[in-house]
Amino acid sequence: MFIPDLIIADKEKVSLDDLILDDLNRQRLEQAIREHRFGKELQQYGLPLDNKILLYGESGCGKTTAAKAIAGALGKNILILNLSNVISSRVGETAQHVKTVFDKAARDKAVLFLDEFDQIGKTRSADDRDVGELRRLVNSMIQLIDYFPQDALLICATNHQSFIDPALLRRFQLKIGFSLPSNEILDGYYDKLLLSFPPEMRGIQRKFDVSFAEARDHTFTTIKSALLEKLEQSQKSSFQREEETDNISLSG
Ligand SMILES: Nc1ncnc2c1ncn2[C@@H]1O[C@H](COP(=O)(O)OP(=O)(O)OP(=O)(O)O)[C@@H](O)[C@H]1O
Ligand SMILES: [Mg+2]
Repeated sequence: MFIPDLIIADKEKVSLDDLILDDLNRQRLEQAIREHRFGKELQQYGLPLDNKILLYGESGCGKTTAAKAIAGALGKNILILNLSNVISSRVGETAQHVKTVFDKAARDKAVLFLDEFDQIGKTRSADDRDVGELRRLVNSMIQLIDYFPQDALLICATNHQSFIDPALLRRFQLKIGFSLPSNEILDGYYDKLLLSFPPEMRGIQRKFDVSFAEARDHTFTTIKSALLEKLEQSQKSSFQREEETDNISLSG
């Protein structure tokens, strides 16, 4: 396994403004960005920077997007690593792979985004992996986190916070939860999404009790099928018109 192949260097530009967040989460994420903008100044007063952030909670509610937005706002590269891709049957090898990525992020003063963090953080596993081995993996992760430099940022994401070892959880100065949006918030989100489409198409059946990502996918799928129908209809009628014109000119 060649580690650089597993790292996604994402260049997509997103901003926190693209995300619907509750006031507290927005404020905490913005504070993290502001701290790093003035990192040197704060450190002169001996103040530690919060550079270890855990984003946890429901799928499709903005964790990955928030991580990208933080990197974008700080003009830092983001290295994205999905931990489920590095887990191998040999604990020593997994630990080595993870260390390689941490070292690269530290060197580049980058944002290291570890997705599916529970893959390493959990101390109990469903398979028959030996608990001692998992423990060693958690310990080596703790070391990497403890020595991660202040001018780089570690952002980890998980949908299963409760699986993560408490000693690991404790390392994150900021823990930010993402939950499913209320129906009222989703309604506003649909309104915003639909704004860019022709008014006669905006009355789609809205799905509720879903994540932002699902609402978005649902909207785009519905709009696409309506648009395709419309396009095919107009193509059909223009063919018909052409045929009629041909018939007229043949008979004339
Ligand atoms: N809070 C939000 N506000 C607006 N749009 C959102 C929000 N959350 C998610 N989206 C939309 O859903 C897409 C997917 O979200 P994202 O990848 O950030 O979710 P995630 O929490 O990382 O999910 P997963 O746990 O499955 O990785 C985003 O690109 C965006 O279009
Ligand atoms: Mg994600």
